[in-house]
Amino acid sequence: MRKLAAGNWKMNGTAAALAEVSALAQAHPAPRCDVLLCPPATLIARMADLAKGTAIKVGGQDCHAKSSGAHTGDISAEMLVDSGASHVILGHSERRTDHGETDAQVLAKAEAALKAGLTAIICIGETEAERDAGRTLDVVGTQLHGSVPAHATAANLVIAYEPVWAIGTGRTPTLSEIAEVHAFLRTRLTARIGSAAADVPLLYGGSVKPSNATEIFAVPHVDGALVGGASLKAADFGAIVAALSAA
Ligand code: 13P
Repeated sequence: MRKLAAGNWKMNGTAAALAEVSALAQAHPAPRCDVLLCPPATLIARMADLAKGTAIKVGGQDCHAKSSGAHTGDISAEMLVDSGASHVILGHSERRTDHGETDAQVLAKAEAALKAGLTAIICIGETEAERDAGRTLDVVGTQLHGSVPAHATAANLVIAYEPVWAIGTGRTPTLSEIAEVHAFLRTRLTARIGSAAADVPLLYGGSVKPSNATEIFAVPHVDGALVGGASLKAADFGAIVAALSAA
């Protein structure tokens, strides 16, 4: 399976930040993994133009379940494709928290993304209270089952396990905790989409940095990372790309 280093810029970056994309492309012309950046929607088209002919792919951070219509402020999967995106992040915990997105809504968005030809990166993860209550596997299993289209394939699906309490906090689960969840997700994904699950990249996300990337990438069933803060600077994200290339 081709591994994936994905950066989620969240609500960060204006035109000046595009210099980081050029720097990343120059420093890593032929990485041995896929490299994806998901900037704010305002930068997708410009970043996609800049990334043409490089190893960097560009994705969105959300899409609407409908292809067009009266939905002020929303963006459809077709619009992302039109802007040059190949992927879209769906069901990020910040969307689930800030916008009350449910598994059913994430599923509908994922269906729309696949129909438009995008690869859906579906995010799941437990809160700190859920982990403390021993409910981690229960929570991520339910989210996986509820938000992944049953007809998804290894060519158009990526799963990102992002413990909510590890996002932007500098805290990460232990390597054995990550291993437990990823092995569980592989099994549950097989139940959901069949044998294609063996080749679906399972990303870990939550405070991935150059200093911890190598050990995280050595965990079984970790096929890459979804990186927030450390994806904003080419030097940091490049170091994570290098760690994954070497894994
Ligand atoms: P951080 O890497 O900043 O913790 O964010 C992770 C994340 O939410 C990626 O989607």
